[in-house]
Amino acid sequence: MEHLLEIIYLIASLTFIIGLKRLGNPQTARRGNSIAAIGMGIAIAGTLLIYKPGHSGPVDPMIYVLILIAITIGTITGWITAKKVKMTAMPELVSMFNGMGGACAALIGLIEFPHNSGDPQSVAFIVAGMVIGSVSFSGSMIAWAKLNGTMNKAIRLPRYNILNTAIMAAIIFAAIYLVVAKVQDPVFLYILFGAAILYGILFVIPIGGADMPVVISLLNSFTGLAAAFGGFLYGNMVMLTGGILVGSAGTILTLAMCKAMNRPLKNVIFGAFGETAEGGSEITGSIKEMSVTDAAVLMNYSRSVVIVPGYGLAVAQAQHVIHELEQLLESKGVQVKYAVHPVAGRMPGHMNVLLAESNVDYDKLVEMDDINPEFKNTDVVLVVGANDVVNPAAHNDPSSPIFGMPILDVELAKHVIVNKRSMKPGYAGIENELFFHDNTSMLFGDAKAALTKLVSELKGL
Ligand code: TAP
Repeated sequence: MEHLLEIIYLIASLTFIIGLKRLGNPQTARRGNSIAAIGMGIAIAGTLLIYKPGHSGPVDPMIYVLILIAITIGTITGWITAKKVKMTAMPELVSMFNGMGGACAALIGLIEFPHNSGDPQSVAFIVAGMVIGSVSFSGSMIAWAKLNGTMNKAIRLPRYNILNTAIMAAIIFAAIYLVVAKVQDPVFLYILFGAAILYGILFVIPIGGADMPVVISLLNSFTGLAAAFGGFLYGNMVMLTGGILVGSAGTILTLAMCKAMNRPLKNVIFGAFGETAEGGSEITGSIKEMSVTDAAVLMNYSRSVVIVPGYGLAVAQAQHVIHELEQLLESKGVQVKYAVHPVAGRMPGHMNVLLAESNVDYDKLVEMDDINPEFKNTDVVLVVGANDVVNPAAHNDPSSPIFGMPILDVELAKHVIVNKRSMKPGYAGIENELFFHDNTSMLFGDAKAALTKLVSELKGL
């Protein structure tokens, strides 16, 4: 029976790896998610049915009842929340789920300490999992509050960087002491738990709400690491594999997001961004407004159109009408592609997921490095609810907070049409000189409403 459980864990671990691999492509992502979820289901069922606890004597049946009640509550709550969540609120949901993962790792530590306090190796795993899980839990809760607007200002205590570093050093020192001195008193562990919770809060409160997606991804890797320590503690291969996969994927994603925003991680953690609109040269000049009819005529007589989707497309839920526009233009012989910036929207893969919802052909989604050389030969670029990812200041204004960020070089196209509701800035809080260029025209209005009108105009041509 023990071997059967090992085989089940091996199968579950394989499903995680296959699932993660498939998440790398929008075409296979949905199936990948299901495969990994089935693997997790198998691992849970195997543990409940086959696992025999180390201590002798029968297991109190009440424990199974409690586990089933917890699983039922968790499944129903998770299912309903995930079904109801809006795409734009997805980072919030991820931070909440991640926080729950961190809390589980922390609780494992608190519960297992009294049974293992004589064994330094087990205590080392317990303390590491408990501390990292607690930081992840409280940090994720603050990130969640920042993302949903409950906590909308960054709080910076005096010399917060020094304070945070001192608390972190004290936690590491106390954790090592607890292991080396073979401390048996759980009160010491509770104090460490409290300090780790406090550190998680202090770690995230000074960071601007705008940087929360990066912070969540970082905390996600913490949760994975905490779960992996649980795997070491129990000698549980599936927990170990799952934890390591989450930990490494979270780390890679964090670094990829920082690279795409051209911001070092230390600048995200110790700096301020996204809440101040400081920096950037003042832009002078005037903008040109375009009517929907003119936009329709221009696109109708073009050979190539590149659509740049951004956060505003998600806000307006205009993914279906944009697909309709694309099909209509193609039926008129216009070649249409989508240019997808790695950090367009508010979470990794945001635009891919959004466009997949309306069954846009994946081959039409072109990544930044591949589409950039094509802009100079493009007749019309239609920017829909995107702002920072097409801001040329990233190339030519060293005083701009986004200077150095790789962007979509849309300004090289013959004509650029920008659809947004106003002249308000985007996420980075800065003006966009693209809007003032001679070859740019503004098409003001909510993306869904404007695109719907554009489609009906085009149908009449
Ligand atoms: P943003 O620069 O945030 O610009 C979005 C624009 O959409 C806004 O200027 C807004 O202008 C417009 N908009 C909002 N609602 C609209 C609606 N209903 N209809 C039409 N337009 C609407 O978006 P982006 O270009 O996608 O750039 C993403 C930003 O997020 C980058 O700065 C990136 O660094 C940051 N970020 C992304 C991620 C990930 S992983 N994606 C993570 C962290 C940070 P109006 O208000 O005038 O309409």
